Amino acid sequence: MNKKRLMTWLIGALMLVGMSGPLWAQPGPQGKGLHGKGSQGKGGGMSKDAAPKSDMELIRFLLGHRKEIKRSVTNLPNGVVTVTESANPQVAAVLQTHVVSMKKRVEEVRPIHARDPLFAEIFRNARKINMLVQPTATGVKVVETSNDPYAVKLIQMHAVVVSLFIQNGQAEAMKNHPVPNRN
Ligand code: HEM
Repeated sequence: MNKKRLMTWLIGALMLVGMSGPLWAQPGPQGKGLHGKGSQGKGGGMSKDAAPKSDMELIRFLLGHRKEIKRSVTNLPNGVVTVTESANPQVAAVLQTHVVSMKKRVEEVRPIHARDPLFAEIFRNARKINMLVQPTATGVKVVETSNDPYAVKLIQMHAVVVSLFIQNGQAEAMKNHPVPNRN
């Protein structure tokens, strides 16, 4: 009797293992499914630098469409007024997004393009810079000012460099731009 009970128990245990075995053996599809969904769903944008990457994508787009961009720069005693526009609505929209995003970077002191001394210096002085951004029908108007005379120079130089980006494209973006004199 005891032997029979043991056999019954063993058979039962084996059946259980047999049933649940495939579950243990197949975490793959579930795991893969989740993993696949994760990486596909966000288009690879799961990395921590997703935002900087998209800033760079917008910048590359603007450089690529530079011939469709018109810009005027007016110096003020304390900064600049710039109007940057495009008849191409997609370019106009990217211009607006770029400037809003860069304004946020200046406000939060999150440097970009710091390899270029001028850009590094702008972010070192970011707390002294005020940016007022106003969308226009085909682009963006920016009033960028400071109470600090050195920051005013940085703002005005940066405005010149943006115009050079439009004039010369990627070649200009690869250059280093000097910082202004403090006096
Ligand atoms: C055709 C190319 C580009 C266009 C049309 C463009 C446009 C603009 C405009 C309209 C502003 C507002 C300030 C101003 O009008 O002077 C701005 C600010 C800014 N842009 Fe761009 N940009 C271009 C390329 C770049 C590149 C290559 C970078 C760096 C990788 C960059 C980084 C910035 C930063 C950091 C600011 C905020 C700093 C500040 O205004 O002082 N931009 N950009």
